[in-house]
Amino acid sequence: MSKVTVVGAGMVGATCANVLACRNIASEVVLVDIKEGLSEGKMLDMFQASATIGYKTKLVGVTATDAEGYKPTANSDVVVITSGIPRKPGMTREELIGINANIVKSVVNNVIKWSPKAIFVIISNPMDTMAYLTLKAAGIPKRRVIGMGGALDSSRFRCYLSKASGVGIQDIEGMVIGGHGDTTMIPLTSKASIKGVPASKFLSKAKLAKVAADTMVGGATLTGMLGTSAWYAPGAAGASVVDAIINDTKAIVPCSVYLEGEYGQDDIFLGVPVVLGKKGIEKIVKVELTKEEAAQFAASAAAVRKVNEALYEIGALTR
Ligand code: 2OP
Repeated sequence: MSKVTVVGAGMVGATCANVLACRNIASEVVLVDIKEGLSEGKMLDMFQASATIGYKTKLVGVTATDAEGYKPTANSDVVVITSGIPRKPGMTREELIGINANIVKSVVNNVIKWSPKAIFVIISNPMDTMAYLTLKAAGIPKRRVIGMGGALDSSRFRCYLSKASGVGIQDIEGMVIGGHGDTTMIPLTSKASIKGVPASKFLSKAKLAKVAADTMVGGATLTGMLGTSAWYAPGAAGASVVDAIINDTKAIVPCSVYLEGEYGQDDIFLGVPVVLGKKGIEKIVKVELTKEEAAQFAASAAAVRKVNEALYEIGALTR
């Protein structure tokens, strides 16, 4: 028996709940939103689909505007937070901090009251900073707060590697580390592979550079096309992180995690490969970075740290 709560019934939250249900990842999924009827309606829609698709997940939709409203989420094993506003064309994820920080903080406080042992998966943007805020606001062990950005960015990296090489995505391996920002993420082209063979054997240096550039603006490209932030890949990436936790798969997934000296960084959430299992983050995996990648990682950390500072400036966190 496993219970997963997804907070925020917008496109990303609902997609995440749908993937969790369709793939039978959790036995119960609770979808929460502040807008009356939104999560109830989306969960009823999914229940109506379940006969056709053939899954038995218990689906619960909840409207909650205060801590009491979160009662149906009690004893969740994993809580996915997608709350807040998405970016509009031309906006960076970082620009959302002013609105999203207070929303995420109040959601974390409401969740923790009913599910003190839950593992948090953070999708809200700016994701690395929202994960940092969650850890500090919840005061829980660091293994229980996971930002899903690297999982999403790596799936986008694999998509562009597949498009450029003409090889099916199932045979492509690729990892993105660093921050979940247009300029802070680091697609590790040096470690990308196609059926175990270095991607550089299939793609020229220039083509690999273009794949990396496309990956970095993968979200922004969709925001421009759709007029709002993407949802299929982000929702699925969130569900894949939940899957690794609930099913204790020990999968290596690049995720934003709290670093205390690893990769030369301290007191910051940044994307690095980790082993995920039922305890949450079970191990931070150290991969050898090239000199250039290490410099990019340090620059990424400096940029994310600046955004984290804003949490103190706007009063979402105090020292
Ligand atoms: C994205 O990159 C929502 O941050 C998410 O699409």
